[in-house]
Amino acid sequence: MGTSYADLATVLARGISHCRMYFDGHPNVVAAARDFTALLPGLPARDGPVGFRLGVAGDKLIHDGRFLVGPSIVGSRLTRFAALLCCGGFEFDTRLEPAEVRAFFALAARTTEPCASLAEARRLLREAGIGRVGLLPVYNEAEASALDAADVAPGLGELVPVFRAMFDTVEQAHQNAQLDRALEMSEARTAGESLVRAAAGNITDIMALVHYPDFDSYTVGHSVRVAMLSVLTGRRAGMPDNALTELAAAALLHDVGKGKVPQEILFKPGKLDQEERRIVETHPAVGAAMLLETRDAGMLPVATAWGHHRRHDGGGYPKMPHGGWVSELTQLVHVCDVFEALTAVRPYKRALTPRDAWEIILKDRSAYSPLAITALRDAVGLFPPGSQVVLSSGHRAVVTAAGRLIDQPLVRVTHDATGSEIPAERQLVLDLADGDDQPTVQRLLVGT
Ligand SMILES: [Fe+2]
Ligand SMILES: [Fe+2]
Repeated sequence: MGTSYADLATVLARGISHCRMYFDGHPNVVAAARDFTALLPGLPARDGPVGFRLGVAGDKLIHDGRFLVGPSIVGSRLTRFAALLCCGGFEFDTRLEPAEVRAFFALAARTTEPCASLAEARRLLREAGIGRVGLLPVYNEAEASALDAADVAPGLGELVPVFRAMFDTVEQAHQNAQLDRALEMSEARTAGESLVRAAAGNITDIMALVHYPDFDSYTVGHSVRVAMLSVLTGRRAGMPDNALTELAAAALLHDVGKGKVPQEILFKPGKLDQEERRIVETHPAVGAAMLLETRDAGMLPVATAWGHHRRHDGGGYPKMPHGGWVSELTQLVHVCDVFEALTAVRPYKRALTPRDAWEIILKDRSAYSPLAITALRDAVGLFPPGSQVVLSSGHRAVVTAAGRLIDQPLVRVTHDATGSEIPAERQLVLDLADGDDQPTVQRLLVGT
């Protein structure tokens, strides 16, 4: 399989993040450098002798005039580095060695002061022994506006900063936890607020963005997706915006205690032994204790971190000898947490369809609050907003909202029965629960 440019950009962003979080020789940093050099030869030869040319315009990562959405969400370290270097991107030679990529990560991780000019930035790279990474000049105004016009989809570009703020908040919080630094509650609230504002209009695009996977940082991606599902569910259940903001902030930080779980246990692909499981199961209490120490944390984030693995029937962890009450909002995050974990792609497992995830959840229904299950079902149904589906008429459509019936959502028809895309202004929105003459959903297109 060929290498995708998005994969390469994501690996670069990951390497820099790990270098900031750990240290230069850490196995995760070494692995990212090795992955990057291993992926380079798999590129089609379009970029010529230069292996990979990655443009940076503001907070966007670009390849060949196309905006790379997923990497732009996770790549703030890379775009900030480009800004400090006064450049408009990077070009990576196919002959790059892992050691040079590591030097690039290290320089990106420790550079905090802007260079005076592009020439000075080039000198900085040379002095750091990075001879096979070139710096591109910044985009001029005409090029930048052409890039804006060629945006992936109207509206999507505006959502990237929202996702990026959430991603950065979670990553920073987990890093602070790991290094015993204080948590910042205001950042989580600001990120939550922008999610709530964005979710008031553009749910389909928000949910579609969630399909951009970020395998490595999946604890971060997981928390972002849980926050998004919680807000979607809370909104559908009629919660007001200020309460949704608190819920989003709490969901973003629900797993912050995992920052203290050793990486080799957290990312272990196989089954955990008893002692490893015991360590993982400390994360709710550890996270709650950290949030208790955090200024302005408020009740909900503490309660959510502590109680999101407690079952409705009294089981789960942390163990409580005499049972214990867990609030409805925490139980809402609990069911969203499980639904996300089941439907997300992980390095060691394929994603389940929402139908399979529901089956698993309902088989163990005493674990969840009935109210929370109903609210999540009403919000996502069998075909969550943003999913692409094939209709019984042969048309392809994107789900815009859950419908009155669990398997009959509202959809926007995007492709005709021959597979041709329908122009945006002629795309019909159908309520599939609206009478017998409507088509039904035939299947879900997974991984779109
Ligand atoms: Fe957890
Ligand atoms: Fe979680």
